[in-house]
Amino acid sequence: MNRRVIIFTIIAMTFALIGLMGIQIYWIQSASAIKEANFRRSVNEAMVKVVQKVERMERNKALLINQYENMLNFNRHLPYDSVLTISDLDSLIRLQLNIRGVDTRYEFCIYKPELQEFLMERSPNFRKELIEKGNAFILFQADIYTSPEYLLIYFPREKQFLLTELWGMLLISIILIIVIVYSFMYTIATIFRQKRLSEMKNDFINNMTHEFKTPISTISLACEALSDKELRGSAEFLDSYLSMIQEENKRLAGMAEKILQTAVIDKGQLKMNREIIDLHEIIIDVIKNLRIQVEIKDGEITRRLKATKPKIEGDKVHVTNLVYNLLDNANKYSPKRPMIRISTENAGNGIVMTIEDNGIGISKTEQKKIFDKLYRVPTGNIHEVRGFGLGLSYVKAIVEEHHGKISIESEANKGSKFKVFLPFVIKE
Ligand SMILES: Nc1ncnc2c1ncn2[C@@H]1O[C@H](COP(=O)(O)OP(=O)(O)OP(=O)(O)O)[C@@H](O)[C@H]1O
Ligand SMILES: [Mg+2]
Repeated sequence: MNRRVIIFTIIAMTFALIGLMGIQIYWIQSASAIKEANFRRSVNEAMVKVVQKVERMERNKALLINQYENMLNFNRHLPYDSVLTISDLDSLIRLQLNIRGVDTRYEFCIYKPELQEFLMERSPNFRKELIEKGNAFILFQADIYTSPEYLLIYFPREKQFLLTELWGMLLISIILIIVIVYSFMYTIATIFRQKRLSEMKNDFINNMTHEFKTPISTISLACEALSDKELRGSAEFLDSYLSMIQEENKRLAGMAEKILQTAVIDKGQLKMNREIIDLHEIIIDVIKNLRIQVEIKDGEITRRLKATKPKIEGDKVHVTNLVYNLLDNANKYSPKRPMIRISTENAGNGIVMTIEDNGIGISKTEQKKIFDKLYRVPTGNIHEVRGFGLGLSYVKAIVEEHHGKISIESEANKGSKFKVFLPFVIKE
């Protein structure tokens, strides 16, 4: 997919997501406002009813106590404590609130602002809140002879109560948003991973074609020469061309083998032929094969094989390939006069082999990726040095098969140092 299309899609999706989240927040806010309004209305209705009941009770009481006095002061109320107790008032309020579904803690009192006096209260702890934040309902409104008295009610857990009603909706919204954001990010990561993989595969195919082309064209040229009857007479000529064909053929077989090995590792079908092998012998052998290539570049391979116990349990072919790959890299990625040092020493229950070069080095961020299959550090012109990006992934797989460890110390332009630990015995 085109990079621009991907970026455009991501931006569009991000905006859509933010928009959806905004709308969601708006809906929740509206729902919360509606809930609050409903709550207020229910409280109002309940308290109006309570006030009516209190007034009626007081009037009836007054009638009973003193009809005469009552006739004179038709609308006046008498002290509450005569009939109406705090628990009566409490149960009145509770009943009215419960009928309307308001099921949260409340505090109330009867307050006379003129005298700043609490005529009735359940506990004196909420006086401040009752006056500042409470809902006020005037009592005995028709009584024009005395200063007004108020029934105040306050809900200490009002916010929580309203929130619990919204809690389910809020929770589902949060979960849905998290799921969407997670899937979105996962999708983006997958797109980029796939894109990188497809680019790496393209590079791989390009490289492979180039790598195979050289030996194929050399072989075809040699065959052409061999078909010349005149030249065929000379035995010397025949030998040199045959050995050329053999060499190139070996190279082709080697490359095909490398690619096949990777497929085998991928399927987890790597076969290990376990035997006791001498790591020093293997190193000396590999150096012999690579020496010429290094010396052509005016470089040098030095070895310091200090391990006193160089024998380990392992697969000879795989360990040879491992050493070869590391030394080959050290040579390939040292453009000027490669100075390669290979050393061994015994440590713990095995051998540590160190391969050091003075090449282009690998930056910290790239170090994490070089062991991935097909990964090659994109250093400007990647095709300057040929390779499939398979060597180190193979090395890592082999090290793991031997229950060893591999690490790298390197900095850009300061050479690299690969350390491989292989144990004496492969414990299951
Ligand atoms: N010694 C080194 N110095 C600098 N860079 C290195 C070194 N060894 C490996 N690299 C980087 O790590 C990448 C991966 O190495 P790897 O051996 O897996 O692949 P390759 O050498 O490109 O191809 P091949 O499959 O032929 O070995 C290389 O392309 C190179 O960029
Ligand atoms: Mg390599």
